[in-house]
Amino acid sequence: MDPHRLLETIRSVRIIPVIVLEDTASAIPLADTLIKGGLPVAEITFRTAAAAEAIALLKKERPDLLLGAGTVLDMEQLRKAHDCGACFAVSPGLNADVVRESVRMGFPFFPGVMTPTEVGNALALGTGTCKFFPAEAAGGLKMLKSLAAPFVHTGVTFIPTGGINASNWKTYLESPLVLAVGGTWIAPREDIRTGNWEAIFERCRETLR
Ligand code: 3PG
Repeated sequence: MDPHRLLETIRSVRIIPVIVLEDTASAIPLADTLIKGGLPVAEITFRTAAAAEAIALLKKERPDLLLGAGTVLDMEQLRKAHDCGACFAVSPGLNADVVRESVRMGFPFFPGVMTPTEVGNALALGTGTCKFFPAEAAGGLKMLKSLAAPFVHTGVTFIPTGGINASNWKTYLESPLVLAVGGTWIAPREDIRTGNWEAIFERCRETLR
């Protein structure tokens, strides 16, 4: 997907459910729940062995779902994320080699930042959108505004993640610095593990209301 269109799509969905899948069998019912619930996007984290296979499966079976790869920590995972068909990748921190390689590949990548040095490095490496992580523990929106102040003129935008939940997500989205928020609260690991699709569906609906 063209990077500009990708950012616009992320901006329009506004919430990126961060997903930890323990087995590939959960991928389709989860995707259908998110689509039916009106949040057709998923960042499937490379924290479990099922991630790459699940992304490849969903890419084929549910092409309308916007798919990202999360917790992409090294070069091997970056290539895997790209090859399995993810439209973008995310990492909790900033590894310059990985960011550089993503830019070279033309693969949209959102590195995690929480210091001015990291924001500066992300921009210098050619990345204009960063994950702000761990958002709440780092000081929330107040911290993000201070952190971003010297960089606003560059047009940098952020995806706060970490501690985002039903009661604080809206506040973040009111800031023009925020492209979207991410988090596991929409589809917690336990609900996915036990197949509690109804609870995930309700959370999507509640959020959109
Ligand atoms: C992530 O991988 O982005 C975070 O673990 C998500 O944080 P949360 O579980 O607090 O939403």
